[in-house]
Amino acid sequence: MSGLSNVLLFVAFISFSVADVGDFTPCLQFFYRSWPPKGLAGTSICQRYNNNYRFATLYSRPRRSPWFSAYVYTVPSGKRPKASWKYEPQLAYPAADGNMRPFLPGPVDMNVVESQAVELDYINSTYSRGHLNPSLHHQTPLCRSSTFTLTNVVPQKKWSNDGPWEDLEQTVNNTLASYCLGEAYIVTGIIPYQKDEHWIKNRVAVPEYLWSAYCCPNYNHSVPEGLKDAFPTFAAIGRNDPNSTEEIVPIQKTAKKQYWGYDVRRMSLNSLEMYLKDRFNTVVTVFHEQCN
Ligand SMILES: *[C@@H]1O[C@H](CO)[C@@H](O)[C@H](O)[C@H]1NC(C)=O
Ligand SMILES: *[C@@H]1O[C@H](CO)[C@@H](O)[C@H](O)[C@H]1NC(C)=O
Ligand SMILES: *[C@@H]1O[C@H](CO)[C@@H](O)[C@H](O)[C@H]1NC(C)=O
Ligand SMILES: *[C@@H]1O[C@H](CO)[C@@H](O)[C@H](O)[C@H]1NC(C)=O
Repeated sequence: MSGLSNVLLFVAFISFSVADVGDFTPCLQFFYRSWPPKGLAGTSICQRYNNNYRFATLYSRPRRSPWFSAYVYTVPSGKRPKASWKYEPQLAYPAADGNMRPFLPGPVDMNVVESQAVELDYINSTYSRGHLNPSLHHQTPLCRSSTFTLTNVVPQKKWSNDGPWEDLEQTVNNTLASYCLGEAYIVTGIIPYQKDEHWIKNRVAVPEYLWSAYCCPNYNHSVPEGLKDAFPTFAAIGRNDPNSTEEIVPIQKTAKKQYWGYDVRRMSLNSLEMYLKDRFNTVVTVFHEQCN
């Protein structure tokens, strides 16, 4: 056995027995150049399902919802799975097995309820469960199913989730499937309210905006004119509240009534980082060296 595989085995042993929560080391493969975004603080989760790492999430315990999820895009096949919703045992019990686990019928363990969002938080809340890492961007049924964990979900208005934000996810899918020749690294996160945070059930913080960015360093240089700005990086911010001001994302007045105020604005990675800096009051860097 080579030295390298010894090291890998050793690392695998450590990570399977201890921490998928609190350290991105076991799942750096989901970040461009193994470099997690800088500037945001939270609890890192290496999202493990069926004993494989599937993606990475930076979680906020006080908000009981994620700051961002990071993943590698794969061309989807088949339909959206009918997956059960899951939780992260290690947020409640640090020594627990790190595989995400489905909620079972009946009352949920109080330590789980305390440590993260549970299904009851979302039921009758006027918010849908908005995936940061969407099942649509993954090929295999297990990868798709693994996105159905509440640690990958934020309270998102239905008309954003099923409207302009879904359009964005589909556009990104088609663009990457057609013109990205190597890996595409995607990070999707949220922007909190500046003041007067909104909560559901006084437990789960509602984001004012969602954002997403990808880095595809190896792409087809004969992309059509209209997609020239979509490579190697691309970003967007989407509204989650029609009452928000229009400085970050203007409202298209001619949008269909139900989607009114849930616009998504496409922009450069630089512009996204400028808005993140404004709101978080610190420099936020999504990709190593801007994915150059
Ligand atoms: C949700 O609302 C419906 C209709 O008002 C009600 O019947 C149901 O019990 C509520 N569920 C929960 C979990 O609060
Ligand atoms: C995603 O992209 C693939 C490849 O272009 C396409 O076959 C599939 O229909 C797309 N899925 C959705 C939901 O748009
Ligand atoms: C790049 O895109 C052009 C135009 O769509 C296409 O003809 C060509 O086959 C693509 N090349 C690769 C390597 O996918
Ligand atoms: C927007 O503001 C109106 C009036 O203050 C309020 O009734 C409504 O609930 C707000 N919408 C959201 C999504 O917060």
